[in-house]
Amino acid sequence: MPGASSKVTAASLRARKAGAEKIAVVTAYDVVFARLADEAGLDAILVGDSVGMVVQGESSTLPVTLDEMVYHTRIVSRGAGRAHLVADLPFMSYQASIEDGLRAAGRLVKEGRAEAVKLEGGVAVAELVRRLVSAGIPVMGHVGMTPQSVHQFGGFKLQGRTEEQRARILEDARAISDAGAYAIVIETVPQSVAAEVTGAVPAVTIGIGAGRACDGQVLVMHDLLGLEPADVDWKPRFVRRYAKMGQTVGAAFKAYADDVRAGRFPSAEESYD
Ligand code: KIV
Repeated sequence: MPGASSKVTAASLRARKAGAEKIAVVTAYDVVFARLADEAGLDAILVGDSVGMVVQGESSTLPVTLDEMVYHTRIVSRGAGRAHLVADLPFMSYQASIEDGLRAAGRLVKEGRAEAVKLEGGVAVAELVRRLVSAGIPVMGHVGMTPQSVHQFGGFKLQGRTEEQRARILEDARAISDAGAYAIVIETVPQSVAAEVTGAVPAVTIGIGAGRACDGQVLVMHDLLGLEPADVDWKPRFVRRYAKMGQTVGAAFKAYADDVRAGRFPSAEESYD
């Protein structure tokens, strides 16, 4: 694994713009999986507000609170040693005012131990990005299908199909890159849009459902690991499953329950005299 021992930072990621080796990012929400991702050599761990959907069972990211993000970031930080640690600013922790955004990001860094924060939007949040960067907080942007705007989009739908959307995504990415963002997540857009953005900004681009031209990729941990019940086999087109952990865990739970019910667990060796 190249550079396996050196700490990954916002600056070291930024320096990998258009590099030969792409940046690999995954989400995590607790210390167990953060440690596994860190040991596997992932470049960055994102404590995404996707926690609302994959951990809390909500149908969108909107209900996630700042306190919850601080909590999850802090427990992930105990497992993220080498990997760069980024935390999401949740919905309405930064949209109402720049002061809100500065204070919320400050909590993610001070209490959560995040090394950078991620926020959604472009032109509308550019001034906040500038202020965060001046305050010493590295910022990862997020454009395209931004899940906190799910109601405006009418669902988690592909963005950037029309010329107007394409131009807006490019303008948004330029605005936050110019404001000092070191990285930008580009979500669920045609690959040509992501390629255009990647060529247009000095920030590194991290794609999810955005094709191969980005400087790196991010996936939600549960999607990558196949952490869903055995009877669910639907997945978004952009997800590749590297494991079937839902099936493995389900089978282990069932075997345990069978052993307990039949009196096979615990054995004499698993008991104290
Ligand atoms: O919340 C999240 O996990 C994210 C990724 C999908 C990029 O924003």
